[in-house]
Amino acid sequence: TNQIGVTPPPMGWASWNTFFSSIDHNVIKQQADALVSSGMAAAGCKYVDLDDGWWQGRRDANGNIVVDENLWPGGMKAIADYIHSKGLKAGIYTDAGKQGCGYYFPTTRPAAPNTGMEGHYQQDLETFQRWGFDYVKIDWCGGREEGLDQETTYKQIAAAHEAASAVTGRRLVLSFCEWGTGLPWNWATGYGDLWRTSHDVLLYKETPGLTKMYRNFDEAFQPAAQHTGYHNDPDMLMVGLNGMTAQRNRLHMSLWSIAGAPLLAGNNVATMSTETRDILTNPEVLAIDQDPRGLQGVKVAEDTRGLQVYGKVLSGTGKRAVLLFNRTGSAANITVRWADLGLTTASTSVRNAWTRSTVGSFTTGYTTSVPANDAVLLTVSGTEASATTVEDTTSATT
Ligand code: DGJ
Repeated sequence: TNQIGVTPPPMGWASWNTFFSSIDHNVIKQQADALVSSGMAAAGCKYVDLDDGWWQGRRDANGNIVVDENLWPGGMKAIADYIHSKGLKAGIYTDAGKQGCGYYFPTTRPAAPNTGMEGHYQQDLETFQRWGFDYVKIDWCGGREEGLDQETTYKQIAAAHEAASAVTGRRLVLSFCEWGTGLPWNWATGYGDLWRTSHDVLLYKETPGLTKMYRNFDEAFQPAAQHTGYHNDPDMLMVGLNGMTAQRNRLHMSLWSIAGAPLLAGNNVATMSTETRDILTNPEVLAIDQDPRGLQGVKVAEDTRGLQVYGKVLSGTGKRAVLLFNRTGSAANITVRWADLGLTTASTSVRNAWTRSTVGSFTTGYTTSVPANDAVLLTVSGTEASATTVEDTTSATT
């Protein structure tokens, strides 16, 4: 009776980081069209997620949500149908409390009360299912304001989702968004499919920066909870936003990919550059994130200066993704040792995921220079040090 999980981590686009609360059918259709025409859909970006602001908070006499048909002609079913007509999946937003975040932190639209679903859990989830949505993100501003308990509340929502599904025959991917405040990695597996591990990587009107990118990356590593189909969520991507450079966009993708994170683009995909499109769709980088084993990377080496090595066990024998991460302000050599990845010291082939080219074969390990605040993302193919290494790694995390 629990969520069965979603494999691999969800990929798609979400409205918040560019449009904030100013979304309507035109914005969403334009972005859905661009996901297809840009090639992002073909690369695996299949969710189109409406975030906060879609609903301004009226209910009819039976408590059913009433939407503004000026923003959503034909209602929300029409926009879900449109998204589906593009071969994509549709996501929607609510709050575990009585109000969504926009009520407490008005952004691009006036504060709207009752944008949350407290008191209507099953009713609203049934409504989202009937409208045809495939995914729902459940925010926490109301829950926090009302002093609700995270674990109790999200488990009630999961139970309401079961009850709703029993009526409609449909299921939603459940994205829990309590920002890691209730330590969801300890209880959310099987209730939600993904859960945020941090506060927002980008607040309204903030310029994208490294500090929160690094914070959310670090906080995403809750490996005991990352089962195949359940995901720690370090938040939506800032790739392609104003203030991001190509180098920083690549770094961001490298970090989220080694973390096995959901990849929800947040930029305007209708106006993005070819360079940004190529960064969001690099197949070898996406393959690391989307590897069917569904594991996270593990930090296997670090020094006091902030030079780190992460290894991620991939499907297949002797296959690893490796992140050489330089968190310092100057270029530095970083070495990955095959033994630290559970491989033998025998000749191991190294491939650069971004350039999609083979670097060579190396015994013992591989060293390269990494620019300041940058990373090198590799895939390596070697020999398992022990026949049971891979299975041990898996059982330790399931
Ligand atoms: C807080 C969430 O963490 C964000 O991702 C976004 O959904 C905003 N709320 C919307 O108000």
